Amino acid sequence: MRRHDLLGFKNNNRKEDILSRFLLESKKNPETMNDRYLRDIILNFMFAGKDTTAGTLSWFTYLLCKHPLIQEKIAQEVKETVGSCEKGQFTQFVEKLTEGALEKLQYLHAALSETLRLYPAVPIDRQSACKDDILPDGFKVKKGDGVNHVTYAMGRMKYIWGDDAEDFRPGRWLHDGVFRPESPFKFPAFHAGPRTCLGKDFAYRQMKIVAALLTVFFRFNLKDPSKEVTYKTMLTLHIDQGLHVRAVHRLL
Ligand code: HEM
Repeated sequence: MRRHDLLGFKNNNRKEDILSRFLLESKKNPETMNDRYLRDIILNFMFAGKDTTAGTLSWFTYLLCKHPLIQEKIAQEVKETVGSCEKGQFTQFVEKLTEGALEKLQYLHAALSETLRLYPAVPIDRQSACKDDILPDGFKVKKGDGVNHVTYAMGRMKYIWGDDAEDFRPGRWLHDGVFRPESPFKFPAFHAGPRTCLGKDFAYRQMKIVAALLTVFFRFNLKDPSKEVTYKTMLTLHIDQGLHVRAVHRLL
């Protein structure tokens, strides 16, 4: 269909979405960049780029409902940094959300990282060994063996994060009010090493824009605080049966 569009039958050949860009690129190398390859690229982007950020924002909203003081602190930081707006003036607010303003939202950045520590969008990362190897503890891995690291469990381990590992505490990421990243080998939510997530900075920027907008205009509460919220076992970490919240307009 999109090939058909690009032949000029539709939209004057001026599509600028990611599939069209890959289709144009594939003309240089049609053998390798065949339809199967293009299908995999698009699926990869859908899983890598949409479910991860959307899921993280859902867990973030859940954690804000569970921690109303943290929710207020984020709203306050956003208001002080970006400036307040008239009720419902979303466009006016987004125009003020410049790159510089996003950079200053250090507590929000910490809260999103803390969300990913407790609810990593990719809870288990599976790899397979391309050659024989020996792990640091002496365990022998054979070529072709599957090797998993469980990011979800690592984020909750007391010997990695301390006795308060189970607590949602964005402050652990801040030093004198400035966000300090952890080693990706301690916090592998975006993986570590040469195959680190390519969209990490993009994901933070996107999540900060949405989170800033939502927290400054609305206050969130769980619809039924007695209902247990848990995850669904999938490739990415979804909330089982979705998150049911009430959003109340803030008086700005
Ligand atoms: C909260 C948001 C995100 C998280 C937690 C996340 C996490 C990850 C993880 C763990 C991997 C490694 C997977 C593996 O090799 O087993 C990965 C890879 C990747 N991610 Fe993300 N991701 C996020 C958002 C995004 C976004 C928004 C994009 C693109 C717009 C993106 C693009 C990619 C790509 C292209 C790779 C493959 C990199 C490679 O293999 O060289 N990610 N991501």
